[in-house]
Amino acid sequence: LLVVGEGPGAEEDRRGEPFVGRAGQLLDAMLAAIGHDRARNTYIANVVKCRPPNNRDPLPEEVEACRPFLDAQIEALQPRLILAVGRVAAQRLLNTDEPLSRLRGRSHHYGPAAVPVWVSYHPAYLLRAPREKAKAWEDLKRVHALLNAADQSPKDGDGAGD
Ligand code: URA
Repeated sequence: LLVVGEGPGAEEDRRGEPFVGRAGQLLDAMLAAIGHDRARNTYIANVVKCRPPNNRDPLPEEVEACRPFLDAQIEALQPRLILAVGRVAAQRLLNTDEPLSRLRGRSHHYGPAAVPVWVSYHPAYLLRAPREKAKAWEDLKRVHALLNAADQSPKDGDGAGD
């Protein structure tokens, strides 16, 4: 699983690691609920690799400048699924201006390898709007199911294809 967020905040910038502040702690807890953690089966990255001044949203051209790095990460990791968290990550990954509400709940694909993409809320938003956590939980359950379905495909050795 590859989780893709927006860009480093202050704490991330200081430590050189994505999602290590309060939002990152919530993200870790959400991932743990579906049996995922960074040490074993999940990588976390951002669409931009540097912190935009004053925490503003990264500009589309800043995302494009960082895209070769994200694409190299995806190429190296070969994730089975990308979970895009938040509007900025989702819109820039999917090259659309559709609102998050319309991007959630349906499958998308990214890049030449057509990696499946699922869209959910940003954990920083969930900290501000805890009532939305129920919907985020629906998204996570779907991510879990999609990854399990991939596990059970014939090429992974259920006997059908070998
Ligand atoms: N928010 C993000 O989108 N990415 C981080 O790494 C931290 C906070």
